[in-house]
Amino acid sequence: MKRDYFRPLIEMQKLKKYFLAVLIKIFLFAVKSCTFVFDVRLTKNKRLEMSNIDRSSVEFPPEVLREAQEIISRYPEGRQKSAILPILHLAQNEWNWLSPDVMDYVADMLKIQSIEVYEVATFYTMFNLQPVGKYVLEVCRTGPCMVCGADEIIEALEQKTGAKLGGNSPDMRFTLKTVECLAACGGAPCMQVRLKREGGIHKYYENLTNEVLDDLIANEWN
Ligand code: FES
Repeated sequence: MKRDYFRPLIEMQKLKKYFLAVLIKIFLFAVKSCTFVFDVRLTKNKRLEMSNIDRSSVEFPPEVLREAQEIISRYPEGRQKSAILPILHLAQNEWNWLSPDVMDYVADMLKIQSIEVYEVATFYTMFNLQPVGKYVLEVCRTGPCMVCGADEIIEALEQKTGAKLGGNSPDMRFTLKTVECLAACGGAPCMQVRLKREGGIHKYYENLTNEVLDDLIANEWN
């Protein structure tokens, strides 16, 4: 009897809790929506700020354009997106990094949405999404290289080049990054360096030591 007497009160409490939970959910949804709109605006402003390349000047020179068109022509009509990686490499070699305007240009060229280019460019570490120095030093920091002294090599490079890990040297000569296994574990510790002057190819340097770094900085990377 006692339990029946209190039942309406218990039901009321349950209902109250239910409405409170619904109200909290609505509130959280509203906060999330506002944050999303704010983020979109922020991203748009950031894009404009980051893009120090004049958009109207984002266009391959004729010889590079011909090469890009030849690459695209290897794929059937409607499948131009398949050419995205080689075209992004061409773009990076041309402008040294992939600004949002450059990625938009590539998207227009391939007749795809810009977001499809952003997805690919942000997935691969070989694409630079910020301005980089003349030499992009990418030190392997996977297990075998770490065991053989990759950390010491990174520290030495920071001191010798003035570039902090993930950043550029003040004179924009070097950018220092880390990458996963370069498939040269037998020569650990090792790194790869992108050389613009040689068509953007990556050159490998193995068995790195302090002395090897001094020699490279003085004689090869200048
Ligand atoms: S772990 Fe460095 S090359 Fe494989």
